[in-house]
Amino acid sequence: MTHAFPRGPSLHRSLNDELLDRLLETEGRMRAAHQTHLGYPYNLSFGPGVPATLQHFLINNLGDPYVGSHYASEVCGLEREAVSWLMRLWGCQTTGDYWGTIGASGTEGNIWGIYLGREALPDAVLIHSADAHYSIPKAARIQRIETVEVASKPQGEIDLAALEVALAGLAGRPVILALTCGTTMKGAHDDIAGALGVLDAAGYGPDRRYVHVDGALNAMVIPFLNGAPNAIRPTFEMDIDSISTSGHKMIGTPMPCGALVARRVHVDRIARAVAYLKSNDTTLMGSRNGHAVLSIWARFFGHGYGGFAHDALSCSLRAQSLAEQLRASGRPVLCNPHALTVVFDEPGAEMVSRYQLACNKGLAHAIVMPNVTDDLLDRFVTDYLNWSRWAKV
Ligand SMILES: Cc1ncc(COP(=O)(O)O)c(C=O)c1O
Repeated sequence: MTHAFPRGPSLHRSLNDELLDRLLETEGRMRAAHQTHLGYPYNLSFGPGVPATLQHFLINNLGDPYVGSHYASEVCGLEREAVSWLMRLWGCQTTGDYWGTIGASGTEGNIWGIYLGREALPDAVLIHSADAHYSIPKAARIQRIETVEVASKPQGEIDLAALEVALAGLAGRPVILALTCGTTMKGAHDDIAGALGVLDAAGYGPDRRYVHVDGALNAMVIPFLNGAPNAIRPTFEMDIDSISTSGHKMIGTPMPCGALVARRVHVDRIARAVAYLKSNDTTLMGSRNGHAVLSIWARFFGHGYGGFAHDALSCSLRAQSLAEQLRASGRPVLCNPHALTVVFDEPGAEMVSRYQLACNKGLAHAIVMPNVTDDLLDRFVTDYLNWSRWAKV
């Protein structure tokens, strides 16, 4: 088998053959696992992108992306360009009024977005739906923020009537509302415009609420789909305060990472100057991965708006087609409009393991990401229909 690790003189100095074999074995395992992966929303077709020679540098974007630090091996300029790309995508009219960063993951973006909300409204209660990602209540636990979970509709989006009831129960306390653009299990889109309407009607104007949109997967899908309704679009043209997304999902990077954009006023509120850094302490992590910045930057400017628009449309159409084929099993199958996620009854353990399916409460899902081939989908449909034929209903 061909492999990426040269057994050249420089590698020999630090890795003997036994160690090298362990790494080659690991590489082989990755190749095999990628071939049949269907369960998680990871875009595995990101291509080479950043020149490998940059791996020879410790690239650390210490401190605030707009200020930099004493450490010179940084790529804060590229980070700001990548963030500006997202700002344009997410409807920021005047980029100077916004702030953004490339961080460790979508989870970090959620924790930090909710922190910005907590600092804006220290006495606020966090409201999220039952289908919100577990990082949302985790963010509240870490920060000791009181939480109210409201019901979701069967398709996975927040139930606005339940939101109204929850707001009425807050006895006037301010609120941090965490909405989702593409829920983890069902790929549902919360009605952002509808939720803002409910907040307004309940007397929660912009000075008594903070709205964070968790768009880990679909904040990089919905903006590219012309047919998606305005109400579910993650955009600062609506009165929301922050949006986060993951880098290793639709964007496509070889390491977990993420991005957060927030209104600058919220970040100015928490910024503290740190002399040691020559920077402002505006991010959760002190050291931030410059290689992640390079990867996201290369994807935004290399793959480009057209590439992502093509991916979003093609993956959403192929997800609908997968759902249609699985319905031949006679079992319930869900694919929300504009989603890449197809939900079905959890199949047998062998299938779950082969396709690395994420399962929850008797349901499983496949996510049609850009690297998923027609051949893989065909094999999956055949296996699922076979399993369904023989499994007890
Ligand atoms: C809706 C949602 N939010 C947040 C996350 C967490 O993202 P990350 O893995 O980048 O931390 C996920 C992960 O699947 C998700 O589906």
